[in-house]
Amino acid sequence: MDVNGKVVLLTGGSAGIGRELARQLQAKGAHVILTGRDPERLAAMEADGFAVLAADLSNAAGVDALVAALGDRPIDILINNAGLGVPHDVRDALPDADAADGCLYANLSAPIRLITALLPRLRTRHEAAIINVTSGLAIAPNTASSVYCASKAGLRSYTMALRSQLAGEPIQVIEALPPMVDTQMTADRDTSKMPPQECARQIITALEGGRAEANVGMVKLLRAVYSLSPALARSVMRRF
Ligand SMILES: NC(=O)c1ccc[n+]([C@@H]2O[C@H](COP(=O)([O-])OP(=O)(O)OC[C@H]3O[C@@H](n4cnc5c(N)ncnc54)[C@H](OP(=O)(O)O)[C@@H]3O)[C@@H](O)[C@H]2O)c1
Repeated sequence: MDVNGKVVLLTGGSAGIGRELARQLQAKGAHVILTGRDPERLAAMEADGFAVLAADLSNAAGVDALVAALGDRPIDILINNAGLGVPHDVRDALPDADAADGCLYANLSAPIRLITALLPRLRTRHEAAIINVTSGLAIAPNTASSVYCASKAGLRSYTMALRSQLAGEPIQVIEALPPMVDTQMTADRDTSKMPPQECARQIITALEGGRAEANVGMVKLLRAVYSLSPALARSVMRRF
């Protein structure tokens, strides 16, 4: 797909990987409408020429408010990028169940609700795309982030089924699987991290190339290991 002139709705476009996706898509001539929660970050993106909408996607009312705020604007590309992690490890003090619900909603239910609401307008476009940002942890979970991993595995499964349902329609359905990327989400992780600019570049390359998956960086290797031995991939990922 040529993104020049396309209208993109990008959730979580005010920081991290989303902010880099916004910048690179804008540089290629796309019109980016991005969402986030933090007013200062949104104002900074607006000053850089982006259309911005405040949206809390951790519940259904927040998603519905975003759809209402969009009005009848046409959308060519929907990128479900907003997401968050929560620690959820029953070996520690019992985890916060409400925090788990919020994570599951934002990472899994919100993308499904947004796709459901916006599919009619995507179907009116000559060519369209839906990109769901999951994670390498959607392929095999680590130990400590059980709820986060479950949310991303759920979104991966949903994305595969949606791709089958939309086969034959001019809507690309792409799953983007980042590795560990250097953003606020991973600020407490002392390990090697990919710059968000490179992660965004690889996701956009997958979109432009019409690929079904953007296996970014080390996730390519994880995918290959998993296809040979799911048990080996799971045992490697348990340590992260
Ligand atoms: N970083 C990694 O290593 C990594 C690896 C694999 C997958 N991913 C996935 O990549 C995506 C982007 O992650 P990132 O690292 O760029 O994260 P980030 O730097 O923390 O940015 C997250 C973005 O999502 C928004 N957001 C978070 N929770 C939200 C909520 N409940 N409602 C609405 N907006 C919300 C944030 O807006 P505010 O700042 O205004 O809240 C921000 O714009 C996520 O889906 C994440 O799971 C990240």
